[in-house]
Amino acid sequence: MADLIVQLTQRLGTHRVLTAREDILPYGFDGTATLKQLPACVIFPRDAADVSFALILAREHGAPVVTRGSGTGLSGGSVPLPGCIVLCLAQMDRILEVDAANLTLRAEAGAITQKIYEAADAAGLFYPPDPGSMKISTIGGNVAENSGGLRGLKYGVTRDYVMGLEVVLADGSICWLGSKCVKDVAGYNLRDLFIGSEGTLGVVTQVLLKLLPRPAARQTLLAAFLSMEAAAETVSAIIAARIIPCTLEFIDQTTLRCVEDFAKVGLPREAAAILLIETDGHPAAVADEAAQIEKLCRDHGASSVRRAANATEATQLATARRSAFSALARLRPTTILEDVTVPRNELAGMIGAIDAIAKKYSLTIATFGHFGDGNLHPTILTDERDHAEMHRVELAIADIVTATLNRGGTITGEHGVGLAKKAFLRRQLGDASFELLRLVKRALDPEGRLNPGKIFD
Ligand code: LAC
Ligand code: ZN
Repeated sequence: MADLIVQLTQRLGTHRVLTAREDILPYGFDGTATLKQLPACVIFPRDAADVSFALILAREHGAPVVTRGSGTGLSGGSVPLPGCIVLCLAQMDRILEVDAANLTLRAEAGAITQKIYEAADAAGLFYPPDPGSMKISTIGGNVAENSGGLRGLKYGVTRDYVMGLEVVLADGSICWLGSKCVKDVAGYNLRDLFIGSEGTLGVVTQVLLKLLPRPAARQTLLAAFLSMEAAAETVSAIIAARIIPCTLEFIDQTTLRCVEDFAKVGLPREAAAILLIETDGHPAAVADEAAQIEKLCRDHGASSVRRAANATEATQLATARRSAFSALARLRPTTILEDVTVPRNELAGMIGAIDAIAKKYSLTIATFGHFGDGNLHPTILTDERDHAEMHRVELAIADIVTATLNRGGTITGEHGVGLAKKAFLRRQLGDASFELLRLVKRALDPEGRLNPGKIFD
């Protein structure tokens, strides 16, 4: 390891290679509670050639490599292994090109998601994926986890906007996958293999993204309900009315009170649940949809429906919603956030199941999430120092997973498997699909050098 660090320092300079304990501590965890480990060193490559150099050296020295950006992940995907090299791509953060003629944007992997949104917006264009952590998260991390966000219902997730990737493979070779062509079926779609691969197949160093024209109008509504069931039924009614809003978010009482204490945007503290809904598109269509949505909310028992008066208020409400995880994290020392997703018709049943599980194990579980996508974030507020309670937390998570899989759901809708969910993956996929994943891993990373132990052992 000492020789490896000398060689890395020779190429990158001392300021791009961290080894002192106090310097590498911040790189020992991501957004996932209870998972922390220290790497041997953290390096900050400048480009794909630096990444390639590091991977070749790591191979010669038999060192594992864990890639990370801002570390906002919620499945332990970028938690280092003891003794590994952390490749932190946060300083490769340039937006390289906005191509308005082709509706594309090219950026380095460390570019911040919010900056990408803003660069597109400045050109009258739109990058829709908006993970909760978009002010901090990097686009490379979004690609690695195939992150979703609040606009997933209408616009899909990160994968739906990736046209091309520059990837450094485990042997150090640099390849470009995809193109600016709207249609391109030359060979296997290898680009998609790397999206959501959680840093286990290669290191993404550059991304080519698809942009859309910016919607001409937007309207945000906030509906309050006196019961969770009424909110869930309203969601079903909106979808049944053949309306696909851009955003259809659910927040329960515990979460909304925390968010209100944190963000102070005037959320109705007495509501049992609120829905945050946004419709966007042509102004006439937006006006029509907003009216229909408001009526559906009232018909299904909304105690109040508030319309954002302007873009600033709409942004405030969306930003408050995006703060849900951080706001909840202030309540108890340890916050364990799940990411289960079920087919939409199973949502009401799943909410009921989570409620019953919280009671069974005497735990506080706050739930919010992307209701329109069937994607729930039941969040267990606990204290990792309380071993008896942590045991009940483990049992509760196992029950939540069982309730999800029994409903045809998935253990993760947008945060990835990482370390946190890997115990459940084989059960969800079945033996044949699970072995196929391992076959792909062995083909691309035969020595198991890249992010070992993530997704599966
Ligand atoms: C969110 C993150 C936690 O929805 O996925 O805010
Ligand atoms: Zn989410």
